[in-house]
Amino acid sequence: MAFDLVFFGGTGDLVWRKLMPALLQAFRHGTLPEGGRIIGVGRDALSDAQYRQSIQAKFERVEGDKRPNPEEFARFAELLCYVRMDLSRPADYAALQARLAERETDTVVMYLSTAPTLFTTICEQLAAAGLNTPKTRIVLEKPLGHDLASNRAINAVVGRVFREQQVFRIDHYLGKPAVQNLFALRFGNTLFEPLWRREHIANIQITIAEELGVEKRGGFYEGTGALRDMVQNHALQLLCAIAMEPPINAHADAIRDEKLKVLRALRRWTPETLGQHVVRGQYSTGTVDGQAVPGYRDEGGVNPGSSTETFVALRTEIDNWRWAGVPFYIRTGKRMAAREAHIEVNFRPTPHQIFHAPLGQANKLVIHLQPKDGLELHLFATGQSKRGPGGAGQTLAPVHLDLDFDKRFGSERVGAYERLLLDVLDGRLNLFVRSDEQEEAWRWVEPILQHWSADPAGPRPYHAGTWGPSASSAMIARDGLCWSEEC
Ligand code: BG6
Repeated sequence: MAFDLVFFGGTGDLVWRKLMPALLQAFRHGTLPEGGRIIGVGRDALSDAQYRQSIQAKFERVEGDKRPNPEEFARFAELLCYVRMDLSRPADYAALQARLAERETDTVVMYLSTAPTLFTTICEQLAAAGLNTPKTRIVLEKPLGHDLASNRAINAVVGRVFREQQVFRIDHYLGKPAVQNLFALRFGNTLFEPLWRREHIANIQITIAEELGVEKRGGFYEGTGALRDMVQNHALQLLCAIAMEPPINAHADAIRDEKLKVLRALRRWTPETLGQHVVRGQYSTGTVDGQAVPGYRDEGGVNPGSSTETFVALRTEIDNWRWAGVPFYIRTGKRMAAREAHIEVNFRPTPHQIFHAPLGQANKLVIHLQPKDGLELHLFATGQSKRGPGGAGQTLAPVHLDLDFDKRFGSERVGAYERLLLDVLDGRLNLFVRSDEQEEAWRWVEPILQHWSADPAGPRPYHAGTWGPSASSAMIARDGLCWSEEC
């Protein structure tokens, strides 16, 4: 299959940090379709050869095993070329069109890895230049807007230029192997489905903790914050994968219909819940991995009096038959104590105790996303008791079944961007977000943003290298619960 993959923002960070390494991996794995061309688009005046050199130089900064040797890069580089464009100039789209017209292709992918403020201009200009043909697909990186209105405005323009089937809205969390396995666990096995409901599950906790701070993205992050950067998209997509009903088949719209229903059933905010069930925090100086690190307000590009949140913890519920009354907790933050993303499904305790079980503990399933990728099922068992087998008063000890997917699948594993890029080339929309899902997610987070903008208290400080402000522990403690590292 001959394809042209055009990266708008072709000299930007995402392209060299994530997209080129992902394509190189696919190239190594032999899964990148033959006959492809990767066209970087940027403002700099570069020849194809100079673009190849700049990408090769950037690979030096990529993790060791994702770095090509010179011979391997030389083969990969044959796919790369470059078009200089000022994205606001119609004439420059004609130059792109000329480059694309050089050869016959089956698919042209326009990957918008630019600031989202340029999305509508690019789409309109692509249409004006006749580059929105039926074989064109468009990929939109997050964030898609900064609130519901701006998101709708982008989707409206995109929708005038492309059919929904041509639009691939990326949420790279959906490409993570652990998320594929969550779908496999739920919809490829029977074991958990009867238990996957309010009668058996007491609560669910989603944690996405990062050790990194805002790095060199202070300017971007300052206008974004953790709620828009992580909750509106990644965390809510994980919540949907956990809570959705089984789709009728594995087609994109069947899956997306079910996710949409979850988003629609999320409990609406009230002034009371906004005050009690949402905590925002901002990291101050601290220590991460033994290194002293600056506070958020001292990072480059950040306002010294900033009230941007780098941490959010919240509690919600899903108002439907399956989940009524089950609290869902979401927590995410930068500069936390560890890089750790997992979902904890906490089951209800036994209805009647005949053993001595560890106080306050019950069965739980932990779905690890990163750094580990696997499942842990926590059960109770007993060794030989002094009082004789099976006797009343026997004491139970926690044990767990540990399934390590990295060990099991090893080198077959495909990274999130590699998986998603191959899906775009293949035209598979299953792991991409539909516009109505995205709008519903914005509709749900928007009252939080409005509440914060009217609340002079600002985010609560927490030291870098910790699990966030104490108010986050207090919030979950009010339900008689604790976060996994505290219990
Ligand atoms: C991105 C956010 O979408 O996800 C970043 O913009 C964040 O701020 C990143 O660091 C986290 O992704 P991952 O895959 O490293 O967990």
